[in-house]
Amino acid sequence: MDKPKVVLGVSGGIAAYKACELLRRLTESGHDVRVVPTESALHFVGAATWSALSGHPVSTSVWSDVHEVPHVRIGQGADLVIVAPATADLLAKAAHGLADDLLTNTLLTARCPVVFAPAMHTEMWEHPATQENVATLRRRGALVVDPAVGRLTGVDTGKGRFPEPAELFDVVRRVLGRGGDVAVGAAPDLAGRHVVVSAGGTREPLDPVRFLGNRSSGKQGYALARSAAARGARVTLVAANAALPDPAGVDIVPVGTAVQLREAVLKAAADADAVVMAAAVADFRPETYATGKIKKKDGEDPAPIVLVRNPDILAEIAGDRPRTGQIVVGFAAETDDVLANGRAKLARKGCDLLVVNEVGERKTFGSEQNEAIVLGADGSETPVPYGPKEDLADTIWDLVIQRLP
Ligand code: CTP
Repeated sequence: MDKPKVVLGVSGGIAAYKACELLRRLTESGHDVRVVPTESALHFVGAATWSALSGHPVSTSVWSDVHEVPHVRIGQGADLVIVAPATADLLAKAAHGLADDLLTNTLLTARCPVVFAPAMHTEMWEHPATQENVATLRRRGALVVDPAVGRLTGVDTGKGRFPEPAELFDVVRRVLGRGGDVAVGAAPDLAGRHVVVSAGGTREPLDPVRFLGNRSSGKQGYALARSAAARGARVTLVAANAALPDPAGVDIVPVGTAVQLREAVLKAAADADAVVMAAAVADFRPETYATGKIKKKDGEDPAPIVLVRNPDILAEIAGDRPRTGQIVVGFAAETDDVLANGRAKLARKGCDLLVVNEVGERKTFGSEQNEAIVLGADGSETPVPYGPKEDLADTIWDLVIQRLP
C-alpha cells in the first residue's frame, strides 16, 4: 500500500521547533511527509532540518522546480494537510484565499482534509480578526485545533500554546483514519457542536491526606474527548484525577470530588449538544471531613466512617436537559446480568444511550482496550467488540450524531 501523503505546512512562529517532533512521529509511523514552510518559518528552523527529517526537498516559493508545477501538485496529491504552527497571518491568508507563496498555494489546491494548529500570543488569538478567520476556515470544513492554555514565549501564560506534538500526531492519525468518510470540502461531522465529557474517578476526602476513590484511569473519557475534537467538536473535558496528557484542542476543567464534578458538568452542559458521563462518580462521600489528619490512638478502635449520598449527576442532567434536544450518554459498569442491569439502569437514569461494560479482574480499568454494548432508549443495541477505547469512542459519537436534532 502507498504511504499516506501528508503535507506539513509550517508558518513563522517559535513553535516551529515543536513541529520537528510532529514530523518525526509522522515519518516514523509510515507517512510520506512533504514539508512546506513559509519564509518566516525558516527564521526559526532552517530548510536543512526539514529536508533531512522529511527526506524531501524543501522550498517556500512557487519559483523553485517550476517544471514540476509544485504549487498545484503538492496540494493535489495530499491525503491530509496540516499547518502547524499556524500563525495569525497564515490563518488570515488562508481565510481570504491569498496565494503568495508555496504553502498558501498548496492550501488552495488541496482537496483533502485540512488541519490548522494555531499558536500565538493570547491577544492575537482572541482578536476578533483572528476569531473571524478561524470561524471562516471552520465553516469551509477545515479542522482548527484550539491552542492550549499554558506557558507562551517569554514570561507570558495564556491561551495560544502549541499542543503537545504527540497529541497533534493523534489528531492527524484520526483525521486520516476517517479520511474516506469525509466528503471533499464538507465539515467534520461534529463541527459546530459543543460536547461535554466527564472522565476519571472522583476522590472523596476523609482528611487532608486520605480519600475514598476508585480505579478509573480516565482513558475512555479521554478517548471520547480526543475523538470528538478530531471530528470538529468544541470539547469540554471535566477531568477527575486523571493523570493523562492533555488532548489537543480540548478545554480541560480539572475537578476532584463528585460535588465539584457536578458543578463543572452542569456549567458546561448549559449550551452543550451532548453530555457523556464517562467518569466513575462516587455514589457516597464521607459525611465529615477532618481538617487535621486522622490519628490512630493506642487502645482505641478506629471511628466508623459514615457515608452520605452524592448527587446523581447523570440522572439530574438526563431529567432536566439543560438544553433542548441535548443527547445524554451514561456508562454502566456491571459484573453480572450485564444486559438486564444495563436496561434497568438506562430507564432509571433517563439517558438516551447507556454504554454497558462488563467489569471484573483485569477488565476495563486502566486498560487500553474495551468491549461494550451501547443500549439506546429507543430499544437499540450496538455491540462494540473488544478493541481500542478509541473505537468505542467513535461508535458512541456515531450513535450520538444519529440522535442529534
Ligand atoms: N453517575 C453520576 N453520578 C453519580 C453516580 C454515577 O452521574 N453520583 C454516572 C456515571 O458517570 C455513569 C453512570 O452514572 O455514567 C452509571 O454509574 P453507576 O455507578 O454504575 O450507576 P449507579 O446508579 O450508581 O448504579 P449501581 O447501583 O450499579 O452502583
